[in-house]
Amino acid sequence: MERVENLELQVQELLKLLEAAKQLNSNLEIEEVFQNILLQMVTMVGAEAGTLWVLDQDGEEIKVVAAYGESADKIVNIRLKKDEGIAGKVIMSGEPVLIRNVQEHPDWSNRVDESSGFVTKSMITVPLTVKGKVLGSLQLLNKKQCEFFNEADVSLAVALASQSAMALHNSQMYDELQQMFLSMIRTLAKVLDARDPYTAGHSERVANYSVWIAGKLGMAADKKKELYKAALLHDVGKIGIPDDILRKPDRLTTEEYEAIKLHTVVGADILSNMEPKRAMADVIQTARSHHERIDGSGYPDGLKGNEISLFARIVGVADTFDAMTTARSYSKGMPYSDAAEELIRCKDTLFDSAIVDAFTTVLAESEYDLAKYEADHKKEYRL
Ligand SMILES: [Fe+2]
Repeated sequence: MERVENLELQVQELLKLLEAAKQLNSNLEIEEVFQNILLQMVTMVGAEAGTLWVLDQDGEEIKVVAAYGESADKIVNIRLKKDEGIAGKVIMSGEPVLIRNVQEHPDWSNRVDESSGFVTKSMITVPLTVKGKVLGSLQLLNKKQCEFFNEADVSLAVALASQSAMALHNSQMYDELQQMFLSMIRTLAKVLDARDPYTAGHSERVANYSVWIAGKLGMAADKKKELYKAALLHDVGKIGIPDDILRKPDRLTTEEYEAIKLHTVVGADILSNMEPKRAMADVIQTARSHHERIDGSGYPDGLKGNEISLFARIVGVADTFDAMTTARSYSKGMPYSDAAEELIRCKDTLFDSAIVDAFTTVLAESEYDLAKYEADHKKEYRL
């Protein structure tokens, strides 16, 4: 009878493991992965609180990336040296540790308890290991309903930790790839802007303005990241315009202006080579349509109103504002407040009024100190 009960328990634990693995791998947003890992472990082992420590990219420090429990918000982002505290020791040794009475243990670093006000009694710390490399450690604090954790809790934690470590590894890799992709796009935009001394930094500024507008419009975080990339690449088609036209200090002839207008179509064409196509659709559309205007007077397709994609309408406003406020060979840049007035004047004819309102609100709120606005909001957009 006891054997059957044991077997049932094991099956239940296996099911929990499978469920954990499924949830962890279905989602690659790194903060959510951290939270999921921790929540699964805390729930399944029956702990009062838990802390997920991850080794820094340079491998010198460990950092709390997720915390669960009463004082969780005070613990997140605490940093220790890589071999400090029990979390650090477990990361260094790669071996799990069960401590029945934490307060009497010599390796206990009081720093965490002191800053959180949480009283730790009993603790399991397991390493998160993938292919022999320890990525971090997970601490489970205070067994619910019993006084102390036992060896069975450690076994379950170790089994769960191997699943969690894989999810952690995957999401870290994914994050690095995203970083690499974004830095390549940024570099490409910089190379492009560098062709014309008057447009240095243009793409980056337009990308910033665009996400500020999107923030005011309440756009979701992942959409804002897409918009940022699309805005960085909006003028990529200028790569195909000869220098003598692109950098011409005088007025353009009709033919030259027609050649400049082609940068929208050329840009969309260049970007359509990037994979995966599904992920690039908004970026391609933005390159093609950012010179379309609400009243149909824009190019290349003469689209009107909502026929123009939201991204293109936003980038269109941001792009025009930057063009007005930066110096050109033939004109000095306009003051920000004058350019804002100009956008307002063209509401509903050239520009989407909700987008102009969002941007002029941002400008007024920042008191036209855009560098400060950027510094204050960088973290919010996590770009
Ligand atoms: Fe453009």
